[in-house]
Amino acid sequence: MKLKYLGHSAFEIEHKNGKILIDPFLVKCPDYDYSNTTDIFVTHGHGDHLGKAPKIAIETGALITAVFELAKYCAKYGVSVNGISLGGWVKYDWGSAIALPAFHSSSADDGTYTGCPVGFLFDIDGKRIFHAGDTCLNSEMKVLKEIYKPDIAVLPVGGHFTMDVESAVIAAQWIGAETIIPMHYNTFPQINADIEKFKECILKQGQKPLVLKIEESVEL
Ligand code: NI
Ligand code: MN
Repeated sequence: MKLKYLGHSAFEIEHKNGKILIDPFLVKCPDYDYSNTTDIFVTHGHGDHLGKAPKIAIETGALITAVFELAKYCAKYGVSVNGISLGGWVKYDWGSAIALPAFHSSSADDGTYTGCPVGFLFDIDGKRIFHAGDTCLNSEMKVLKEIYKPDIAVLPVGGHFTMDVESAVIAAQWIGAETIIPMHYNTFPQINADIEKFKECILKQGQKPLVLKIEESVEL
């Protein structure tokens, strides 16, 4: 499975028929080629996560998966949506995904309520990758280790709106994934993070920190 970082909380997962985008707010790579996108997952309604999702879905025909209220908001653009909620695995032809709790808020830029914020766990090509969305440290993360056993965890580390480095290091331990990827940092001044400290602490607790540059891909 190939994962590419698109800046902030945006990632691409490549699969055999195309690619999945998560939270496609693409200010850090405005020229990114989103053709062949089959699916877009949006963790919550905030502009730095919804990003270009409606535009990409209009142009590619990609299916937007999001919590019911956010999916309904996206449907106003005339795109295909899959409204889900916290609950069970949702099947796709490339694998499956499940929405898990995130502790945050969620509304669109026009003030529309967009349901509860979530993180997504993907099961694809024999790997499990968890994208936490925007969240604080919370004990639900221990359920991930006990029940869902992700191989890779992608965690916000920028603080102010989400976990900071210190909380994310604890979250990494609670989630127990082998590889930990930081996100949601250094996009705006409020979320500047000491990523060297993050790497050091993750290594110290026996996990692998993976700090991706913008548009850098990794085979996992
Ligand atoms: Ni947010
Ligand atoms: Mn955010």
